Amino acid sequence: MSDEKRTLTTRQGHPVHSNHSSRSVSNRGPITLENYHLIEKISHFDRERIPERVVHARGFVAHGEFEAYGTIGDEPASKYTRAKLFQTKGKKTPVTLRFSTVIGGRDSSEAARDPRGFAVKLKTEDGNWDIVGNNLPVFFIRDAIKFPDVIHALKPDPVTFRQEPNRIFDFMSMTPESLHMLTWLFSPRGIPKDYRHQDGFGVNTYRFVNAAGEGVLIKIHWKTQQGIESLTAAQAAEIQAKDLGHASKDLFQAIQRGDFPKWELNIQIMSDDEHPELDFDPLDDTKTWPEDQFPLRPAGVLTLNRNVENVFAENEQSAFGTGVLVDGIDFSDDKMLVGRTFSYSDTQRYRVGSNYLQLPVNAPLTPPNTNLADGQMTYRVDNRGTNPHVNYEPSSIAGLAEAGAEYQEYRPFVEGQVLKQRIDRENNYGQAGDRIRTMPDWEREDLLFNLVDQLGQAESHVAERMVAHFTKADEKFGQELATGLGIDHGSLDIDTLVHVR
Ligand code: HEM
Repeated sequence: MSDEKRTLTTRQGHPVHSNHSSRSVSNRGPITLENYHLIEKISHFDRERIPERVVHARGFVAHGEFEAYGTIGDEPASKYTRAKLFQTKGKKTPVTLRFSTVIGGRDSSEAARDPRGFAVKLKTEDGNWDIVGNNLPVFFIRDAIKFPDVIHALKPDPVTFRQEPNRIFDFMSMTPESLHMLTWLFSPRGIPKDYRHQDGFGVNTYRFVNAAGEGVLIKIHWKTQQGIESLTAAQAAEIQAKDLGHASKDLFQAIQRGDFPKWELNIQIMSDDEHPELDFDPLDDTKTWPEDQFPLRPAGVLTLNRNVENVFAENEQSAFGTGVLVDGIDFSDDKMLVGRTFSYSDTQRYRVGSNYLQLPVNAPLTPPNTNLADGQMTYRVDNRGTNPHVNYEPSSIAGLAEAGAEYQEYRPFVEGQVLKQRIDRENNYGQAGDRIRTMPDWEREDLLFNLVDQLGQAESHVAERMVAHFTKADEKFGQELATGLGIDHGSLDIDTLVHVR
């Protein structure tokens, strides 16, 4: 190595003259406590880890840009949204993208059967827009109140600390809305070959709002330009026997050699109402919107072209959230989305610290002006008002002022009784069955093989209930699953078994 070396210093800027020997009474006597460098070095090391993410702990980040088409499908983008990043053809917005697995810990296998996180942070001129999505288009549950339960079932058993098929399918069999997601997770799509060869989906429903204040419901798709490729369980086992981080390595090396991966952003649009003509609720995240009725409309392309310089700073401390929206994008009443929006910044204040938004990876490019102040690790004052004494609003002296009144808030009209109740159009089996029936043979066989493998490890009553749900989705598939599990399908009382509430 010929790089010129710089002098090692403490964090206080003092040169370190001895980094190999602690200060001690004679060279073999007791160590003295006033040895500032020793104590600082060890106590900082003791604090090197922050709590890992409660889900999506294993992940990897790359940076790049989003280039807008100026149109959304065949229409000018402005017809649907006033979000500035979409308006002009060729307009570029810096992007940070974090891929992840969900269930395993920070150093777990990237070849696990698990959804992959696909979290995009767009640093726009109007502040950040985060799209915290997955590689599969639907989710296990449709109400945020069930999230801790689904994750507890999928995480290791609190006694054996092993991921147990019996616990997973016990929960899933009592949660019929999970069936559609299971047809994705246990098919080849449940183990993407790596992070480049997979799509991304917003999963939850958002709104676009245009300059006239009109809203439409939207679903977000990131279409991989590398092609979708997946692994069988056997291929995945072979990879993870040698390498737990093959997907991060693949992404890092592709960017390093200039082979920049790309995803096209496509938007599905639906008018903003309940759509009684559909046999599902458009706000239900266990459903996809049929693409023949709600076509994919291309809106731009995302390219990853820069690797991280430091994994801790840019991956571990990065923080994405579903509430991070820009003008022209709005929430829908999707019950998952609303619960998620509370969760992300709540966990990040705990996991990273209350000033996590001052870290470069999270900070918007537009400098924030806020009276939020102090707290652990305050790096700077975000109040760039004219008078540093005025850190409150309103003030007759100086300080920050509300943004102009020309802003047109989207104001949906909502009316109804406040209650705790399931949605009406649950339709838990329709799309699951459609998916099974339209799978190519090899994909259907892989789904069957993986379900037999996992359900074979569950208690018989759990396996029987899962067979009953799959039978409701597709009679023939249910029968084949029963045969694979050595269950006498004819003896099952399907309607009683699926009646779980
Ligand atoms: C109500 C349901 C959900 C709750 C309460 C929830 C909560 C969380 C929490 C607490 C984290 C850790 C965040 C951090 O430490 O920075 C997380 C990460 C994540 N979640 Fe969710 N989640 C939910 C549903 C979903 C769904 C439906 C998706 C996919 C569309 C999703 C995608 C992600 C992704 C991609 C990450 C990783 C973000 C990153 O890379 O930092 N989550 N979620």
